[in-house]
Amino acid sequence: MSTTKHLIAPSVLAADFARLYEEVHMVNNSEADWFHIDIMDGLFVPNISFGFPVMQAIAKHATKPLDVHLMIVDPDRYLKACKEAGAAVITVHYEACTHLHRTLAGIRELGCKAGVALNPHTPVSLLKDVIRDIDLVCLMSVNPGFGGQKFIEQTYSKIKELRALAAAVNDALLIEIDGGVGRNNAAQLLEAGADVLVAGSSVFGAANPTLAVQELKHISTG
Ligand code: DX5
Ligand code: ZN
Repeated sequence: MSTTKHLIAPSVLAADFARLYEEVHMVNNSEADWFHIDIMDGLFVPNISFGFPVMQAIAKHATKPLDVHLMIVDPDRYLKACKEAGAAVITVHYEACTHLHRTLAGIRELGCKAGVALNPHTPVSLLKDVIRDIDLVCLMSVNPGFGGQKFIEQTYSKIKELRALAAAVNDALLIEIDGGVGRNNAAQLLEAGADVLVAGSSVFGAANPTLAVQELKHISTG
């Protein structure tokens, strides 16, 4: 048994928005590494979450980096606003970018880490020619748009395939898993090669969210 050096990113989407200040402080005072911030436009995904003014309010109190997951069409329009609202990592969807290479360069020019998210149906092989230019790949383990959905098991083999694809050219690539992550599957995800676990309902819906973060951070792998 061992523990891996992985990151935990609680997804604020599952927080109680009426108590956002307290929720931000819970994450600050926990063993979490990042805040995961889900921005939706009602077009790329069939839901609308919150936008940059709310993110900016979170950034004002957050003591940890903001990992922003843009579920919006044509994200180039909002990269600068996203940086200005406090993003450290900006992740765009492969399916939402016509000129992905240019978009990633734009994110890095702003001084942010550049991430690409893949929907469950999108093969990791499509990243082959751009993998060198990515800091983080977010594998969606649910269809994006909503918290609290059931984890898609195919994700395990996608992690392994992605790690193999990146091995020769991008050793530092972070593999993030988003959707349906909790105590029940965290160990298996880390064993498959995940680096960052996003957790929404399994953290904010827990009786003791701080403890839920701690358990994910110290999960034992085989
Ligand atoms: C879904 C979002 C996720 C979501 C995860 O579109 O990208 O970050 O908040 O929520 P859980 O952990 O509840 O599946
Ligand atoms: Zn997300």
